Amino acid sequence: MKLYIEKDYNALSERAADIISSFLKEKPEAVLGLPTGSTPIRTYELLSEKCKRGEISFKKVKTFNLDEYSKLSPVDKHSYHYFMDNVLFSKIDIKKENNFFPYEKYDEKIEKGGGIDLQVLGIGRDGHIGFNEPGSEFDSKTRETFLAEETIEDNSRFFNNKKDVPRKTITMGIETIMKAKNILVIASGENKSEAVSKALEGKISTEVPASIIQRHKNVIIILDKEAANNLKTGL
Ligand code: PGA
Repeated sequence: MKLYIEKDYNALSERAADIISSFLKEKPEAVLGLPTGSTPIRTYELLSEKCKRGEISFKKVKTFNLDEYSKLSPVDKHSYHYFMDNVLFSKIDIKKENNFFPYEKYDEKIEKGGGIDLQVLGIGRDGHIGFNEPGSEFDSKTRETFLAEETIEDNSRFFNNKKDVPRKTITMGIETIMKAKNILVIASGENKSEAVSKALEGKISTEVPASIIQRHKNVIIILDKEAANNLKTGL
């Protein structure tokens, strides 16, 4: 496990964008697993700027998104499909047919695509990865899940009303995520610090789904100082 602690959110995003860019330079046909949420937004902006400057290209890249709300159409502005189109895909040279979202037979599609080379992940305050909430089995595959109360609370900031947050989602399973050849975790802010310390230093337990990454051989973690506040060791 390689850990970077950066001074702030911008520095964290620069580090993440640089790592993803180096990866793409080495493997232009890479298969990326991508998250949504607030944390990756600046990373995606930096990647699109690098692409505009001609430093990297996504022409041969395939992407598999981590999760999606069930029953939201791809053009619904609350859907993760819409988010990705808006924040990243419309700003880079990627082919639309190479962007995949978790609908039918997702694990098979990932395997057919060659498997995920680099999975980027955020962490929820309750320790979730994707929408694998506490209690999710480590051998879970892509499936429908229900959001935990804490996540509904957190995600309500994107909706007019808490009751509008869809309760049902579809997410890559924990096993699906762990099959990625490389994992890059990004977390920012004091409100993630407890989940981060439990995930990186705590007991590996389904109660903290992110703790499973301790078992992965190729993990890079990028935190800002606030998210690293609760870490006891330098790892
Ligand atoms: P965030 O979400 O980036 O919006 O904090 C991360 C997550 O819930 O996995």
